[in-house]
This record gives sequence, C-alpha cells and structure tokens, in this order.
Amino acid sequence: EKGNHRHFMAKEMHEQPEVVSHTLAHYLDLAAETVLLEADLPFDFTGLERISIAACGTAYYAGLIAKYWFEQIARLPVEIDVASEFRYREAPLPKNGLAIVISQSGETADTLASLRYARQEGQKVMAVINVPTSTIARESDAVMPTLAGPEIGVASTKAFTCQLATLAAVAVAAGRARGVLTPERERELVRALIEVPRLMNEALRLGPQIEVLARSFAKSQDVLYLGRATSYPLALEGALKLKEISYIHAEGYAAGELKHGPIALIDEKMPVVVIAPHDQVFDKTMSNMQEVAARGGRIVLLTDARGAAEAGIETEATLVLPEMHPFVTPLVYAIPIQLIAYHTAVQMGTDVDQPRNLAKSVTVE
Ligand code: F6R
Repeated sequence: EKGNHRHFMAKEMHEQPEVVSHTLAHYLDLAAETVLLEADLPFDFTGLERISIAACGTAYYAGLIAKYWFEQIARLPVEIDVASEFRYREAPLPKNGLAIVISQSGETADTLASLRYARQEGQKVMAVINVPTSTIARESDAVMPTLAGPEIGVASTKAFTCQLATLAAVAVAAGRARGVLTPERERELVRALIEVPRLMNEALRLGPQIEVLARSFAKSQDVLYLGRATSYPLALEGALKLKEISYIHAEGYAAGELKHGPIALIDEKMPVVVIAPHDQVFDKTMSNMQEVAARGGRIVLLTDARGAAEAGIETEATLVLPEMHPFVTPLVYAIPIQLIAYHTAVQMGTDVDQPRNLAKSVTVE
C-alpha cells in the first residue's frame, strides 16, 4: 500500500500534486480560469459580516492562512481560534455570520463542539472536510470536500494542502461575490492556483538536499521557524510537524516577534528556519534574518531564486523554490516544511507514521 515509499507519510507527501490538482479541479473552471462553487450555498457572501473559524492542530493552521486570504481577497473580517478554546469562550457571534470548521477526519471532538456552538448562536456552518460521511460533514450547512483521499500517516500532509486549496478557492469565490475582485484579478488568482501542482512537483525535488540537512537537524535540541504573512502560520505548522514526528522541540514565530523575546534563544547550535518567498514582506523578513545572523544563528532559508540573490547573508543552507504568485506560496512551501520534519524523523529513527502518544483522530477532548 505504501508503494515504493518507506512510510505512508512519504507516500502522502508525494501524492500532493495529484490530490491538490483533483481538489482544485472540483472548485475551479480550469478552462475559463474562474472559480465555481457548485454547491448551492445556504448563505450569501455579500451580506456576511464576519467569518469565525475553528479547528485543531494542522487544520487550525490551514484556517490561519485562510484568514489572510479572506481578509485580503474578499475584504471579509475573520476571527479564528483553536476549537478547544472557541467552544468554551462564549464568543458573541454576529447576526449575519458564517462559521467555518476545518477537519481531516470530521470527527474531532472540539471541532464538532465548536460547530454545534456556532449553529446554536445562529451561524451558518461551512465544513472543510476530508471524510464526507463524518459527523461534522453531516451536521454542517455546507460541506466543502477536500479530495485528498484517505490519509494514514498520523502527521497530516496532503489533507493540509488540500484544505488550503479548498479555502483558497472559497476565498476567491467570496471576493468575486462581494464585488472585490475584478474578472482579471480573479483570473490571475485562479491561474496561480492552477500552477500549484507543477510547483509542488518541483518542490518535491528538494528531497535529497533536505535529507542531507536533516542530519544536522537530528542533532539539535530545538529548532525555530520564522515567517511573516501567510508564511507565519506555515512556520507554526513546520514547528508542529517537527515536534510530533521527530520529538525535537520546535517553535514557530511571526518573524516580527523575534525581538520581543525569542531572539534570546539564538546561539550557534539552534537551526532557524526562515520561510521567505520573495513577496511583499520579503525585505522585512530579511531584516529579521539579519538579526539572527548577527548573533551567530544557524540559518536555513526557504526562498526563491530572486530571494536567494537578494538575501545577502551567509546561510547554513538555502532551499531554492520556484518563483510563484505570492497568493499560493503556502501550498508550495508546505512541501519543504514537511520534508524537513520527515527526513529529520527518519534520521532520528522514530516511528514516523505512528508517533508516540498521538492518535489520528481525536474524538475525546
Ligand atoms: C498534525 C495533525 C493534527 C490534526 C488535528 C486535527 O499533523 O495531524 O494536529 O491536524 O488533530 O485533526 P482533524 O483535521 O482530523 O480534525
């Protein structure tokens, strides 16, 4: 079942170009380069006041990335919380509100409780779900399937990028419905999404370079991940992935937060992974990277050719990704983030597909 892969996680990482392509084909008109949301939505994006998102773990980070998209592309305010907090917070929710829950399994107890709270507070609920027969899918007003296929590895990989593909399409649909996007801008964003599977295939070719890098990661006590804008949630996801399968302590931070505390951790032993595609916040992230370099930090830079040329700092390693529209960077940069965790775990000899203390589906709180 693993084909020629050593672990389900490896197989599932390599399936991403294909399953993301399927997911995109479900939500996009590839020929017309527009979004199509075939489901008759039981709400109207135009009248929406706010979106509230609740999810756990990796699905929560997908939601955090989507927050940037909904706000920028559809000018829709988004609040987001981990489901275990959302369900008990007694947050007042707007009259015309949409709640989005995101879950691979569709059975996560806290996410289900958040859905029920939101419905009770009069919200329409949209579920981004990989298991269409799940409890969360059944109880939602609208189901947006992710077409990742069964995910066996405990660490979520292909479900995450399919969640991003789905949420990106929904954000573009919302932008169009709200009159924020011109037809040209919609086509530009959709074209960027259509490129993603090809870009993911290119990113997967970083495997051998990351395998070498993983030997030094495996000797580390701690790893720090930094990013800005949508690369910030990806930094959080990178740290989570590394922790859960290699058991190495890792933290993700918004790069701008560095000087508010974590900079004290920088020394010549701790790798600092800087996620910095050449986008609108690149220069800001570079100045944070300079602060790390000035303190002798070990930098692993994830960027594109232009970013690598402009970085002007010596790094321990620079992973060069293809250039792409800034909208889609989280989908593609997810790949090296996953590969770093995977190869480090393999190097450590941990049980990659069944990490200790973790269950694939968390049906108790
Ligand atoms: C991390 C991971 C978990 C899940 C979380 C939510 O790799 O897999 O953090 O993302 O338990 O699970 P679902 O998506 O099934 O609700």
